[in-house]
Amino acid sequence: MFGRKKQAQTEADSVIEAHVANSKILVSNLRKAYVSKKRETVAIADVSIEILDNEFVSIVGPSGCGKSTLLRILAGLDEATGGTAILDDKLIDDPGADRGMVFQTYTLFPWLSVEENIHFGLKIKKIPKKQADEIVDHYLEVIKLTPFRKSYPKELSGGMQQRVAIARALANSPKVLLMDEPFGALDSQTKSEMQLLMRQIWQVDKPTVVFITHDIEEAVFLSTRVYVMSGQPSVIKANIPIYLSYKRSLEIKDTTEFIAYRHRITALLHDKEVDVEVES
Ligand SMILES: Nc1ncnc2c1ncn2[C@@H]1O[C@H](COP(=O)(O)OP(=O)(O)O)[C@@H](O)[C@H]1O
Ligand SMILES: [Mg+2]
Repeated sequence: MFGRKKQAQTEADSVIEAHVANSKILVSNLRKAYVSKKRETVAIADVSIEILDNEFVSIVGPSGCGKSTLLRILAGLDEATGGTAILDDKLIDDPGADRGMVFQTYTLFPWLSVEENIHFGLKIKKIPKKQADEIVDHYLEVIKLTPFRKSYPKELSGGMQQRVAIARALANSPKVLLMDEPFGALDSQTKSEMQLLMRQIWQVDKPTVVFITHDIEEAVFLSTRVYVMSGQPSVIKANIPIYLSYKRSLEIKDTTEFIAYRHRITALLHDKEVDVEVES
């Protein structure tokens, strides 16, 4: 274990040394193999990505291609078996409050009210109460749940619970928000509302977001850039900047530019020749 960490640190140092751009996250030749007695599963073969400050980057790919594994490594919850993942010039090898996480399944503390859930991380960080209260009030407004501040998670719909999870993550002002299919379990109407809310939050606060999804429309709507992952053994197939208008409403999904992006990414995922040109 120690040997791998030391080697990763040496690799990270040389990547940082060679790299002059201001990247927030720099993933180089990442590999993850799960080894059991019977066999080795290569979840990630060789993935390199770079995410700049304030970008909203989505990663799309077929089920089982290693998206969650990649995000867990970025979160410091899992260890790579090769390559490096760097956040702000520091090798990621542990979880940390500098990264906020939102998962598909609802992860609120059931015994805490909505406002207590959002307060939770602030309390751990020993933020003075008055300041913490202001932060909580602000995010309750942002997610439009002020009237439900005293409610408990079980009293809320799935969409409302995910809004609280997003507020809880943002309240800690993380350097990066890591989201793993956060709207995957929601009905299509609620999902669209959540996408709009998420895009509006980004337009105002511009958090750096890494967003995992297998929903191409969702990726195009939300993102400044989309990485397309191949099936196993997974590598990055394409890196597509999304040049759509900055202030987006749901109607943008019906525009020809939007549809062209959707077709292009769908074709890439299905290994078809890309015959839809997207203007840039
Ligand atoms: N803890 C684990 N042990 C063994 N294999 C795993 C483990 N976690 C994930 N895998 C395997 O790694 C591959 C990628 O999984 P995952 O990252 O969850 O994919 P995705 O999120 O893209 O659907 C899959 O083949 C999965 O079965
Ligand atoms: Mg997954």
